[in-house]
Amino acid sequence: MRAAVVTAFGGPEAVRIVDAEVPEPGARQVRIKVAAAALNPVDAGVRAGVFGGAGKRIGLGWDVAGTVDATGAATAWSVGDEVVALDHGMVKPLGTHAEYVVVDADAVAGAPATADPVHAATLPLNALTAAQALDLLEPAPGRSLLVTGAAGAVGGFAVQLAAYRGMVVTALAREEDEELVRSLGAAHFTSGEVAPGGVDAVLDAAVLGESALAWVRDGGAYVGVIPQAAPAPVRGVRTAVVEVDADGARLAELVKLVDEGVLTLRVAGTYALRDAAEAHARLAAGGVRGRLVLVP
Ligand SMILES: NC(=O)c1ccc[n+]([C@@H]2O[C@H](COP(=O)([O-])OP(=O)(O)OC[C@H]3O[C@@H](n4cnc5c(N)ncnc54)[C@H](OP(=O)(O)O)[C@@H]3O)[C@@H](O)[C@H]2O)c1
Repeated sequence: MRAAVVTAFGGPEAVRIVDAEVPEPGARQVRIKVAAAALNPVDAGVRAGVFGGAGKRIGLGWDVAGTVDATGAATAWSVGDEVVALDHGMVKPLGTHAEYVVVDADAVAGAPATADPVHAATLPLNALTAAQALDLLEPAPGRSLLVTGAAGAVGGFAVQLAAYRGMVVTALAREEDEELVRSLGAAHFTSGEVAPGGVDAVLDAAVLGESALAWVRDGGAYVGVIPQAAPAPVRGVRTAVVEVDADGARLAELVKLVDEGVLTLRVAGTYALRDAAEAHARLAAGGVRGRLVLVP
């Protein structure tokens, strides 16, 4: 099969398409025939060597939508099931940017009935991250939440999930994204001006760090998305960093919210797998709204 990998770190041109053995599922694993696989910022980080693994062949891709095509022992999935999954892992020999991928069975959920695979592939990583980040903030109806990077993938799902749970959401995004983030459910919008201590909590998907922490009231909560970039706690503000967990049961709940129209799946464009380097270059150029998706 063909797979997108890096063997030497670098820019988009470092992405190579190679021939690889079709992987075999072990116990409690399934093999998915990939229909679509989103390209995320983490893939650019892996490609550039941010997460290490020098000298190894590293497979790219975390998000996948496709069809179960083989199962290992002790899985509840059957060949032919249409699914989505998160293939977690910074340094792995193969990822979802391939024709087939093997994932843990408990990282899998049934695909949304209302979305095609290209759209469905944009769900797992970023919706799980947004949901698990909100958990760390103990969301409650009526509480105020500022989401930075609200037009992005994590931020957009966070705005929708928080508004759905009754939080009063302020979206921080670029001026040109106001209409978009309001359509996702933000009650308020800012492109940067926020009163110090003005909100109960911040979900900092744009990685603004200490400036975002300053917007949280005394005793409130801050959650970041990059472990190394977490600001130190001040004024009794609880600080935490989400590290996404490939939780298939939680993913199934998010799939349900897609089918109920609560979560929107945003696709900026599709690329053939063989053009993965081109997709990386488009992502690196910036300004993408919605995900770029690779199709084998
Ligand atoms: N910890 C985890 O488990 C986990 C999981 C998933 C993602 N992440 C991380 O979460 C972050 C967000 O991921 P993503 O996929 O949502 O990225 P994304 O789709 O690129 O979204 C980031 C958004 O933030 C905006 N932004 C950045 N700086 C801004 C500023 N100063 N003011 C207003 N808007 C600003 C960007 O706008 P422009 O494009 O115009 O800059 C973009 O809309 C990434 O760093 C990613 O690596 C962490």
